[in-house]
Amino acid sequence: MKTAIDLGTSDTKIYTLGAGIVLNEPSVVALDTAGGRVKAIGLEAKKLIGKTAENTKTVFPVFEGEVVNEKLAARMLGGFLAKVGYRQSFSSEAMVAVPCGADTALLKKLENTLEACGVDHAYLIETPVAAAIGSGIPLSEYSPCFVIDMGGGVTDIAALSLDGIIAGVSVGLGGKNTDAALIDFIADSCNLQIGLQTAERVKVQIGSLFENDTLGAVVNGRDLSNGRPRSVELRARDVIEPVKKYYDKIFEIAGSVLSKLPPEVSAEIRHKGIYVSGGAAALAGLESYYKAKFNMNVIIAENPAMSTVSGLGSLLGTPELAAKLALNAD
Ligand SMILES: Nc1ncnc2c1ncn2[C@@H]1O[C@H](COP(=O)(O)OP(=O)(O)OP(=O)(O)O)[C@@H](O)[C@H]1O
Ligand SMILES: [Mg+2]
Repeated sequence: MKTAIDLGTSDTKIYTLGAGIVLNEPSVVALDTAGGRVKAIGLEAKKLIGKTAENTKTVFPVFEGEVVNEKLAARMLGGFLAKVGYRQSFSSEAMVAVPCGADTALLKKLENTLEACGVDHAYLIETPVAAAIGSGIPLSEYSPCFVIDMGGGVTDIAALSLDGIIAGVSVGLGGKNTDAALIDFIADSCNLQIGLQTAERVKVQIGSLFENDTLGAVVNGRDLSNGRPRSVELRARDVIEPVKKYYDKIFEIAGSVLSKLPPEVSAEIRHKGIYVSGGAAALAGLESYYKAKFNMNVIIAENPAMSTVSGLGSLLGTPELAAKLALNAD
């Protein structure tokens, strides 16, 4: 069975040849604290975050793009693969995404996790390469492009061609930083403590980089003075400052990658524009915000969270190209 796996910090996406994207679930495991028994994975486990009693805990086995708990990552991925009917066979192959420039320790942990799930022949493809292919950017060996993949815990920034990465970085920042900034901001300005899930919901519902966006939401939490449940109504423009932080930081880092490129590569990128993918690229107003900041054309992928897994999926059809682009854990 030929499979593509994007084991993301926030969500795991799986693609199978012939069927396309067959799974997209949170990368979360719910555990029994006493016996360590797995109670739920994926969507069911995410529903429990922040709401469980002492005998259940929820764990994210992938942090900033790196497998931090091999055993739980394997339980989770194994469960997802079983759900999509994965069967190991003589001709099974998998394309798997890794952060740009990942070191051998990270690759080894990922390979161990894959092996524990019965995937023993994996091509490890750097996220920006997969995202570029999945976003449908016209590519060749001599035609470079510039990609920013904004995930939940990692942002990959790279200039690349079908020959590989020309220059790139992977930073441990992503949509989770916006959630954290919203928690701090709402605590300071409204004296209201909100949970991670609520923060993410606020970001998705009303987060916006359009100045004066008036979309509103009711936000529920716990009053920081008396501890009682309380709600506030917030508008998009009220939270633009905390929402901007992560996007501004990535703009700065991307600027420094751009400034070190060889002149011919720069010229081509200037002509093509900047391609942005990853779930955090779905934020309202990002395209016009970045167009103005970069002073260049900016193209946001159509279904940005799925770019990487789609690119991995199309590499299943071109094994020679995949072999050329793949990193090796040994
Ligand atoms: N409409 C939206 N606006 C802003 N952020 C969003 C939106 N929809 C999803 N996100 C954010 O996108 C992030 C998940 O994106 P993605 O699926 O690309 O990450 P991942 O692949 O799991 O993580 P990583 O690549 O960092 O390991 C989460 O932080 C989520 O809150
Ligand atoms: Mg990702």
